[in-house]
Amino acid sequence: NNRFAQFKLVLLGESAVGKSSIVHRFVKNTFDDMRESTIGAAFLTQSVKLPEKSATVKFEIWDTAGQERYKSLAPMYYRNANAALCVYDITSRSSFNRAQEWIKELKKQAPENITICLVGNKTDMQEEREVNQEEVDEYITQLQNEGTTLISGECSAKSGDGVLEIFTNIANALPVE
Ligand code: GTP
Ligand code: MG
Repeated sequence: NNRFAQFKLVLLGESAVGKSSIVHRFVKNTFDDMRESTIGAAFLTQSVKLPEKSATVKFEIWDTAGQERYKSLAPMYYRNANAALCVYDITSRSSFNRAQEWIKELKKQAPENITICLVGNKTDMQEEREVNQEEVDEYITQLQNEGTTLISGECSAKSGDGVLEIFTNIANALPVE
């Protein structure tokens, strides 16, 4: 009685927020201090087990490039996605604003039932934090009032804290037969 489901997941967010680092932590359990900026997009897969549902969820992951010149490619990746991770860096207010813009774009252009997850990365850099939990909660409440539900979480690709939890929460939110 082991159920299996496969979903397409896309990562969006400003360059250098740590999208590739989150994916590599999740897929390979490694971290690179000198990771190179993504060109175009990268494709990786990884599965998570959901023991309570006796299910395995496989993610087909599109890690997009955050640099402005690749912006026009993003719709190719989110158009048929089941889930989207909108990533910001907790030490960068501008990256939080950019994540909000991605959410706005997804609401307009992505499949209606897409599962959106707002992710604050680099929690190992607390001293430099610019985005706090209160304003994230406020933003999420505001979206809820507009009828958009959202998963959210924080993580550190560097330490690994919170990374698996984010993907597990998404897997739990997706429909497993
Ligand atoms: P693009 O591919 O250009 O869109 O960037 P990206 O969002 O994929 O960022 P990437 O994963 O390449 O990380 C950018 C830089 O941030 C790299 O030097 C990483 O080592 C660093 N970094 C990523 N995650 C973390 C983290 O959790 N903590 C710290 N301290 N640094 C991180
Ligand atoms: Mg990258």
